[in-house]
Amino acid sequence: MRILVVGASGTIGGAVVAELAARHDIVRAGRRGADVQVDIEKPETITAMYARLGRVDAVVAAAGRVHFGPLAEMTDAKLRIGIDSKLLGQLNLVLLGLDHVADGGSFTLTSGILSEVPVLHCAGTSLANGAIEAFVRGAAPEMPRGLRLNVVSPTVLTESMPKYGPSFRGFEPAPAARVALAYSRSVEGVQTGQVFKVH
Ligand SMILES: NC(=O)c1ccc[n+]([C@@H]2O[C@H](COP(=O)([O-])OP(=O)(O)OC[C@H]3O[C@@H](n4cnc5c(N)ncnc54)[C@H](OP(=O)(O)O)[C@@H]3O)[C@@H](O)[C@H]2O)c1
Repeated sequence: MRILVVGASGTIGGAVVAELAARHDIVRAGRRGADVQVDIEKPETITAMYARLGRVDAVVAAAGRVHFGPLAEMTDAKLRIGIDSKLLGQLNLVLLGLDHVADGGSFTLTSGILSEVPVLHCAGTSLANGAIEAFVRGAAPEMPRGLRLNVVSPTVLTESMPKYGPSFRGFEPAPAARVALAYSRSVEGVQTGQVFKVH
């Protein structure tokens, strides 16, 4: 398969590439230094990326910003960071990519455990994650040409504990290589409309 991985240089994206590259042709995407440049917060760059790429068999999205901060200091603008980036950025990869993925191909998005479990100062992330999962459940049955749509919901990654550890005391982190297996199941399996939880 020819697989587009958006966020390929990241903690999750890098592990997904490592898992899939032995069996597939990987196109790495990101804002900088990738095979193809894209900023998922700018829909016109998504359109341009797909036009340059031609057909792919699968799209994996492991990118998207969110705002961390106390609810008392939350504003419309801060909430919109996750909505515009992690939520709409990934959804636009689906909507603008529908005509560019081969029959029977797949889209795999990324949410996270915060859709279900509250963590201090993460309400904006919970919102984005929950909305991504709801969209996947709602949209998968309408996908054309046998296209599949899933989302992976990881817990905090072992590799990210130095950064996020203080917010996730008592959580069992998952190594990126294990999280990457959920993306493999989505891309290389047959299921659709699924939230593949790694927690
Ligand atoms: N790490 C965790 O513990 C964890 C757990 C659950 C969920 N998640 C979610 O998984 C996603 C990826 O997390 P991560 O830890 O792997 O992040 P990361 O290490 O910071 O990597 C982010 C990747 O996305 C790319 N990227 C960032 N903004 C982009 C944009 N606007 N357009 C296109 N590409 C962009 C980056 O490359 P460029 O900078 O070159 O664009 C990089 O390749 C996030 O949405 C995060 O919320 C992470």
